[in-house]
Formats: sequence, C-alpha cells, structure tokens
Amino acid sequence: MTIDRRGFLIGSLAGVGAIACSEGPAASPKKGPTMPAAKPAPKTILILGGTGFLGPHIVEAARARGHTVTLFNRGKTHPTLFPDVEKLQGDRDGKLDSLAGRKWDAVVDTSGYVPRIVKQSAELLAPSVGHYLFISTISVYAKSDKVGADETSPLATLDEPASEDVAKHYGALKAGCETACEAALPGRVATIRPGWIVGPLDPTGRFTHWPVRLAEGGEVLAPGDGTTPIQLIDGRDLAAWIVTLIENRTTGVFNAFGPSNHPKINLSIKQLLDDCNTAAGNKASLTWVSTEFLDNHEVSPWAEMPGWVPAEGDYAGFGRLSNQRAVDAGLTFRPIADTAQDTLAWLALPDVEAWVRGTAPFGSAAMLSRDEPAKRRAIRGSGITREKEAKVLAAWKARG
Ligand SMILES: NC(=O)c1ccc[n+]([C@@H]2O[C@H](COP(=O)([O-])OP(=O)(O)OC[C@H]3O[C@@H](n4cnc5c(N)ncnc54)[C@H](OP(=O)(O)O)[C@@H]3O)[C@@H](O)[C@H]2O)c1
Repeated sequence: MTIDRRGFLIGSLAGVGAIACSEGPAASPKKGPTMPAAKPAPKTILILGGTGFLGPHIVEAARARGHTVTLFNRGKTHPTLFPDVEKLQGDRDGKLDSLAGRKWDAVVDTSGYVPRIVKQSAELLAPSVGHYLFISTISVYAKSDKVGADETSPLATLDEPASEDVAKHYGALKAGCETACEAALPGRVATIRPGWIVGPLDPTGRFTHWPVRLAEGGEVLAPGDGTTPIQLIDGRDLAAWIVTLIENRTTGVFNAFGPSNHPKINLSIKQLLDDCNTAAGNKASLTWVSTEFLDNHEVSPWAEMPGWVPAEGDYAGFGRLSNQRAVDAGLTFRPIADTAQDTLAWLALPDVEAWVRGTAPFGSAAMLSRDEPAKRRAIRGSGITREKEAKVLAAWKARG
C-alpha cells in the first residue's frame, strides 16, 4: 500500500534526553507520578498562542491549578475566548513589542513552526523567563520504521535549507525550532513531541470522524484486521501534563502520547473503534476489510481511515514508539471512551467554543455557525465519505 508520508505526518512521529532545570544543579525526572507532595507554588505562565485547540486546554488546566496565564497572539483565532485572561497582542513574526520588559516563570510555545520566527521569541524571552516549553511533534523523526524508537532517534533535516514551507517540511522545520529554543535557553527547555492529539476543540476532524460515524449507526467500514497499533493523546491530558512539567520545572525532550504506559502494550484500532462505539451507544456494527482490498479500492490510510496506518515496512514503527520518558515524568491518560463521549458532547454544543464557556459567559453561538459552515463540517469529521464507504462495503460483500 503506498502511503504519502508528508500527508499524514502533521501530528505523527519524534526526539532527545531529559534533564530537570532549577536554580541548582540539574536532576533527572523521578520514576512514577512526579506530582510534588506540597501544593506547587503558583506560577506566571505566558502562552504564545492559547486560543486554538491545545492552547485553551492549557489555559484551563493552569488556571484550575492556581496559576496566572497571559496570552500572546494576533487576536484572530477565537478572539472572544477567555475575556478575563490578560492578552497581549502582536505577531510572533516580527511584532513582539508587547512582550518586552515583562517577566514570567514559564512560557509555552504552541504556535512555533518556523525556526527563524521561533528564534525571535526565544531570544527575546530568554532573559525574562525561567523555563521554555516548546510544543514540537513526533513528525521530527526522519523515519518511522523502528518499533520502540525513542527520543534519541535521528531527526528529519531540511533538503531545502532556506524553505519555510510548513506544509512541505513540517517535521524538519519543527526540528529546527527545537534547536533554536535550546540555543537561546540552554538547559531551560522542555521539548514536547506529541503524537496524534484528539478530543474536544480539535479542528481537524480526524479522531472525531469515528465517534460521529459510529453514532450514526448501521454498518461501518473498519480498516485491516483490527490489530494495527494506535498512539494518541487527549488534548486535556497533554495540557495537564504540561502544567505538571511547569510546576516541576522539568526540562528535556519527551515523546508525548499514550494511551498505554507500558512499552509492550499498544492500543489496537479494534480497541479504539470498540470504545468509540460504546461511547456512541453501540448503534453501529464494524465490518473489517483487508488492507489489500482497501488499497485496491484506493481507500487511503490516515486521511480516509483516521489514525490507521498499516504498521509494515517503512511504517513498522508507526504507532509503536516509546513514551516511557513522559510516563516517568507524570504523563497519564484518560480512557478512550471518555474522549469519544466528550467529543460528541462538545460537537452537540451551539459552537465549538462553548466548551470553554464554563469559565465566563459570552455569546458566540452565532459567530461560528453564522460564517463557517465548511469549518463546522470539517470539525465534525474528515475521513471517508459515506458514499465511498457504502461502495467499498458493497464491493467487499460482492467479492465472492
Ligand atoms: N493536532 C495534532 O495532532 C498535533 C500533533 C503533534 C503536534 N502538534 C502541535 O501541537 C500544537 C497545537 O497547537 P494549537 O494550534 O492547538 O495551539 P493554540 O495555542 O491552541 O492555537 C494556536 C495559537 O497561535 C496563535 N497564532 C497563530 N499565528 C500566530 C502569530 N503569527 N503570532 C502570534 N500568535 C499566533 C493563534 O492566535 P491568532 O490566530 O489569534 O494569532 C492561536 O492562539 C502545534 O504546535 C502543533 O504543531 C499537533
């Protein structure tokens, strides 16, 4: 089966060693949950971004744990979110004035894609922040063919050194951003390489495809024999862990995904779909169709079967990377069924932002539904169309 690596790498494969940074000498993360016994001291946290998908979850987790958050962004994405949070306006590509002269305990960089731009904010903030957390991706890895690969695996490099084309060089550019952060704040950086981030507020519709499709009921096309391994992380679990790293001033490089904290136990696509089906009320039946048959009927992995990439050949390691370091640093995972249920609950809301409305009443129902039906459809689920699904299922039955 031919797989376009770039097509699905946005959110896939990752990076390098861990040291804990504090005033004093470096210390490695202790085994098991790293939550400090005493209530962590309140921190001041700057988020470069904060209003898209992962950002709002970090804001919520930090505020729930008594920390003070400041957002820096252009004020274009979900501008009405968090009316009671300090917002500094600017553009990280050259308009950083509003950050000058300010101090924070930590900065979380969720919106860094181009090394030149990340270098600007990292160098500006280096004298005024103690800890820099850069949100990278497991797409930084050059290959995905090794089972159990960890943060020491080789990284992708730019074959066009001057390129800033994120769609074309997402992984290699993120690797360059990691280097820029470490160069500006040596020993004070936590580089976080998430895998597939899922759950409420996800603008891609990838994971969302499954609970939405299963909630419609009937016969559902399921890919392969059900054993394909899956690694993902609920945005809220990732956000909570990022706040833990801030509280512990943990530095280093971490692959961040689950849902298993056992290197040998992986989630299978069958388990994922069964849990989503349960969360969606068990109205659907799954028909598993072989990888070869899907290939012959041009059903593409990932894009049409979200999360599914046959773990073979160059992709033998896909879905089977090591997350041990992050687990040792306190990363934990909620059940898939909870993520699926909450995703359906979020989609049932009048607008995608209402999920965060709990914090402050503000009306934006009209805003989204009024001017972005296409975006709303995308949020409800990308994946295979119902028409193509029905055709492939009919052909599968007729294959005699
Ligand atoms: N989704 C996945 O499966 C996945 C997997 C692995 C890694 N990741 C990584 O996870 C992160 C997810 O980030 P997110 O988008 O959800 O973060 P977010 O912080 O929730 O949203 C992006 C923020 O960046 C701001 N922004 C965009 N361009 C800006 C600019 N030029 N100057 C200042 N602010 C700017 C946006 O606000 P304005 O538009 O108002 O400026 C928005 O607040 C990304 O780094 C991604 O690479 C994602």
